[in-house]
Amino acid sequence: MPKDSLTITDNRTGKTYEVPIQYGTYSKDGASIRAMDLRQIKVATDDFGLMAYDPAFLNTASCKSAITYIDGDRGILRYRGYGIEHLAERSTFLETAYLIIHGALPSRHELDEWTRNITVHTMLHESIKKFLDGFNYDAHPMGILVGTVGALSTFYPDAKNTHEPAGRLLQIYRLVAKMPTIAAFAYRHSRGLPYIHPQNDLSFSANFLNMMFQIDPRYRPSPALERALEVLFILHADHEQNCSTSAMRAIGSAHGDPYSTLAGAAAALYGPLHGGANEAVLRMLAEIGSIQNIPNFIKRVKAGDGVRLMGFGHRVYKNYDPRAKIIKAIANVVFEVVGRNPLIEIALELERIALEDDYFVSRKLYPNVDFYSGIIYQAMGIPVDMFPVMFAIPRTAGWLAQWQEMLLDGEQKIARPRQVYVGADHRDYVVLDRRQ
Ligand code: ACO
Repeated sequence: MPKDSLTITDNRTGKTYEVPIQYGTYSKDGASIRAMDLRQIKVATDDFGLMAYDPAFLNTASCKSAITYIDGDRGILRYRGYGIEHLAERSTFLETAYLIIHGALPSRHELDEWTRNITVHTMLHESIKKFLDGFNYDAHPMGILVGTVGALSTFYPDAKNTHEPAGRLLQIYRLVAKMPTIAAFAYRHSRGLPYIHPQNDLSFSANFLNMMFQIDPRYRPSPALERALEVLFILHADHEQNCSTSAMRAIGSAHGDPYSTLAGAAAALYGPLHGGANEAVLRMLAEIGSIQNIPNFIKRVKAGDGVRLMGFGHRVYKNYDPRAKIIKAIANVVFEVVGRNPLIEIALELERIALEDDYFVSRKLYPNVDFYSGIIYQAMGIPVDMFPVMFAIPRTAGWLAQWQEMLLDGEQKIARPRQVYVGADHRDYVVLDRRQ
C-alpha cells in the first residue's frame, strides 16, 4: 500500500526524512508538501534549515482556497465549483459576485438583498469629485482608479477594523458598488464631460454604460451590449492566485483597510503582463495594421527581440483559455449592434497563424482572456486606456473574496517570504578618504 508521504535523503548528511503529502479536492493537481517540513533538514543543529527557492512562485501554493479552480491543461475554470461557461450563459455579474464572495448561489431573497445593498452604495462622496478634478486631463484612468480607491480609505476610517464580519461586509458592498462609479468618472474626467450619477434602477452593467456614455438624458444602453458587458464582467470576476490577487492577499495580510489593500491589487493589475495586456493587445493590433504585416510580426516575436504576441500565453493555461473562447463568441453579438471592429480580422488571422506555428504550439501558447476582450471594448466605444479599468471593476469581487478568505484562514499570517542572500560577506566600514 503506497503511503502519502515523501522520503527525502540529504546527501550532505546521509539522513533521511519523511514528510507527509497533503491533497486538495483533486489529488491530480493538489498534492503538496508543507515547505516548513523542509526546515528540519539541517547539516548542523544551528543551521536555519532547508528552504524551497521559488522565484515568481512558479511552484508554490501560498494558500488553500475554495473559491476558484483552474485546470490549465484542460482549459477548465470554475467559480465555487460552477463552470464558467454556465455562469456566463445564465448568471448575472452581481449573482456571480455573491457566489464568489459568499460561497454559494443566492436564494431569490438573498440576491435581492445583496443587489439592494450594493446599489445603495454606488454613489461617491462629493469630495471624491474634487479629488478626481485634481488629476490632469490626460491622466491614465487606471492611475486615477488606483489613486481614488486608495483615497476612499480616508473616507471610511471604520474600514480598518477588518476582523468584524458586519463591518467587513459593509466595505465589500461599498467597494463592489463604487468601482464602476470611479471608473466611469475617471473616463468622464478625461473627456471633460460632466459626471453622470449612478442610476440604481439599472443593472450593474447598464448603470456603468449609462455613467460612461450618457450625454442625452434619454440614453438607454442597448440590452445586447448590457448583456455582453455582464458576461465580460462574469469572466473577469476571479482567477485564483494571479499577480494582483496575490498582491491583495499579501497586502491584506498586514491587516490594513480594504481600500488601501485593493489599491495595491489594482496597481499590480495595471502592468502590461497582467491586466494591462488587453490594452497592449489593441496597441499591437493597431501597430500590425493589416493582415499582410502579420508574418513579419510573427517573425519578430519568434526572434525574441523583445516583442511578444500580447494576449497569448498564460502561466496556468497550457490550453485555450476558456474565457477567450466565450469572449470570441460574444464579439459577434457586439458587432451586430455597433458594427465590426476591423481589428478582429487581424486578431483572427494572428490566432490562426500562431496556432499552426511550432514556436507557439511547442510552448503551449494560446489566446488568453485579453486577446479578444479589448476588441469588444473598443467596438463598444470604450477607449483603450480604460481596458485595465474594465478588468478591475469585476475583479474587485474576486480580490475581496480572496482577501476575506485569507483573513478567516487560521493558518495565514503576515506574508513574509524568505530570501537566499547572495550579497557580500561581512565587510568593515572604510572612511571616505581611505576608499580606493
Ligand atoms: N509571445 C511570444 N513568446 C511568448 C509569449 C508571448 N506572448 N508568452 C510566452 N512566450 C514564450 C517565452 O519567451 C518563453 O520562451 P522560451 O522558453 O524560449 O524562453 C516561453 O514562452 C515561456 O514563457 P514565460 O515568460 O516563461 O511564461 P510565464 O508563465 O512566465 O509568462 C505570461 C506568462 C506573462 C502571461 C506570458 O505568456 C506573456 O508575457 N504573455 C503576453 C502578455 C499577456 O498576454 N498577459 C496576459 C496574461 S492573462 C492575465 O493576466 C489576465
